Amino acid sequence: MPLHHFLDLKDIEPAALHRMVTDAVSRKTGRLDLPKGAPDSDRPLAGHVLAMIFEKSSTRTRVSFDIAMRQLGGAAIVLDASTTQLGRGESIADTARVLSRMADAIMIRTDDHAKLLELAHHATVPVINGLTDLSHPCQIMADLLTLHEQGKPLAGLQVAWFGDCNNVLHSLVEAAGLFRFDLRIATPAGYRPDAATVSAAQAAGAHISVTADPLAAARDADVLVTDTWVSMGQAHQEEKLALLAPFQVNEALFAVAQPDAVFLHCLPAHVGEEVSAEVFESPRSLVFDEAENRIHAQKSVLLWCQGLLG
Ligand code: CP
Ligand code: NVA
Repeated sequence: MPLHHFLDLKDIEPAALHRMVTDAVSRKTGRLDLPKGAPDSDRPLAGHVLAMIFEKSSTRTRVSFDIAMRQLGGAAIVLDASTTQLGRGESIADTARVLSRMADAIMIRTDDHAKLLELAHHATVPVINGLTDLSHPCQIMADLLTLHEQGKPLAGLQVAWFGDCNNVLHSLVEAAGLFRFDLRIATPAGYRPDAATVSAAQAAGAHISVTADPLAAARDADVLVTDTWVSMGQAHQEEKLALLAPFQVNEALFAVAQPDAVFLHCLPAHVGEEVSAEVFESPRSLVFDEAENRIHAQKSVLLWCQGLLG
């Protein structure tokens, strides 16, 4: 069987992605009364180890993968790249081959997407993308689970993204075609999503539009999404922040959206910049459900990687 790497959503069969969301729902509801560190009753990854490499900071990804492995009956090891030999120049190829002899799967958070692909090329165990400069598919799996829990079908949902065109947006673009929701992207002229990612998603049937008018994007939308204006590794540019200011998600945008519209943000947030405090703290804000759902969605990703979800 070919290795099940979880690198980008577009590389994975839609049926498998849908199974992951459904499986995450049933595992989540199946353990509501258990303490968070207690294993699921079936412990499907008993004896398995996940090695996690972090070349960038993380709170949610690090903790959620660790807890996910514990709940599945396995364990996780965190490698801070700066204190490993990778940080002293050992090659990705050798790191991949060594970790493949010691762990059952490898998760990496890095800058250059090419490093993720190289790791997967040399690994003999599944590799998971824990965020690169190009994409963040694990986040979008948690977001899809969060929207699924709202009870509306994902297909046909009107999703609107505001602000910077970053890694989280690129995975959302890929998901639009695979899960059949419409995506409007509101961003200043000069800040456009990766053209290749958008055209590949459109070729796969996604309905994606790009506008410089945030109110037009928000009109009748079911979901309003944003993310930080300065991603990890980017310089803090006053000029960019000024251009993005009109794209803040606030009550003015929610006023023209569907009455039951919800707010998503992968976190960490910069309240007062990309989102107003009023929206962030409102009942329509699902940001902490999203954070918790990283655990549940990633458990299904881990099971799929090990060939246990078909
Ligand atoms: N959303 C997310 O990936 O958070 P961390 O950077 O804390 O992992
Ligand atoms: N776009 C953000 C996401 C953080 C989870 C970043 O890359 O910093």
